Amino acid sequence: MADDLINAGLYPYFLPMEGGEGPTVRRGGRTLIMCGSNNYLGLTGDPRVLAAARAALDRYGSSSTGSRFLNGNTDLHEELEAELAAFLGKPAALVMSTGYQTNLGVIAALLTPRDYVVVDRSAHASLVDGCRLSGAKLRWFPHNDAEGLRQTLERIPDDAGRLVVVDGVYSMEGDICDLPAIVRVCAAHGARLLLDDAHGLGVLAEGRGTAAHFGLTDEVDLITVTFSKSLASLGGAVAGTEEAIHYLKHHARSLMFSASTTPPNTAAALAALRILRSEPHLAAAVRDNAEYVRRGLAVAGVETGLSNTPIVPVPTPDAVGTLRMWQRLMSRGVYTNPVLPPAAEPRMRTSYMASHTTDQLDRVIDAFAGEAAHLRDAGRSMREASVA
Ligand SMILES: Cc1ncc(COP(=O)(O)O)c(C=O)c1O
Repeated sequence: MADDLINAGLYPYFLPMEGGEGPTVRRGGRTLIMCGSNNYLGLTGDPRVLAAARAALDRYGSSSTGSRFLNGNTDLHEELEAELAAFLGKPAALVMSTGYQTNLGVIAALLTPRDYVVVDRSAHASLVDGCRLSGAKLRWFPHNDAEGLRQTLERIPDDAGRLVVVDGVYSMEGDICDLPAIVRVCAAHGARLLLDDAHGLGVLAEGRGTAAHFGLTDEVDLITVTFSKSLASLGGAVAGTEEAIHYLKHHARSLMFSASTTPPNTAAALAALRILRSEPHLAAAVRDNAEYVRRGLAVAGVETGLSNTPIVPVPTPDAVGTLRMWQRLMSRGVYTNPVLPPAAEPRMRTSYMASHTTDQLDRVIDAFAGEAAHLRDAGRSMREASVA
């Protein structure tokens, strides 16, 4: 597949950027409006985040050179854990090296081959990989469908351990988990619940995420997050009870056998978290920007599926049509991420930042409006699929 795309001059991956990712990005000697980043709050270039990263570099050096379990723990990691746990409304948190490793390590540590894990069809790959690594019996339920979850749980033997795994905000659809209904079904069927809030942190409930958005933080057993989106860094964390975190500290292999987040990464995430806490309007700003784009696209006749968050997917035609459109958008100065099967049905995944200007958003809407004729059929089939 990759070779075919390279030969056809349509290969869209591994594009080197020539500068940092703000609302615009330099690429191929041009400045593009960045609609493909997860830098939701626009903090990757914030002077306070950069100063914290520089200070950590000076104080601790460039790397911890080891796992937190042994020589790689610092007071910065522990400060970040305490502040993150408080922000998420959980008693404790554990910082790991990436969001991917967090999901992998947490799920694999908790489940055994005797257990069942029930996963939303659109859950992130890191959750699915964690489930597979655990050896637990994997069952799927239709995307965001609490009734489908109930039916799946009913087929599981009464005495088996069961974990339900969902995203807070789905990374390809941009919709929010129906947490109230999912929580009710989990409670009725004795299932534990893990929520990956990679895209909810910084965005919903003044940045506190999906569980806080629904007032259901106590009903979710574990919340995982990443620092690579709103927190403008690299790393991940899980939040839960003191007991669960203590257990994970000593059983999550992706934590124990991999070096810790670097000092500058850790300090940058901590600085970004403090900004988020003191400037909750940033979370509202990114949602308002996405809503502005959704409304503009609707007026232009361009569909955006289930989106009601800063992730705004635009359903596109077949793979080749999608890549040609991606090139045309690029030539109009708009950077997007083309998504192709098997990752998901074809779409242009766009995402927005608190720091995009109205002028930039208007240019994005105009670029997509120019594609409206090509997008009409794809939008209709996505709508039909979501109703069916
Ligand atoms: C829902 C979700 N979970 C986890 C991850 C992994 O995060 P990280 O980039 O920190 O490995 C991502 C990143 O793409 C994600 O979208």
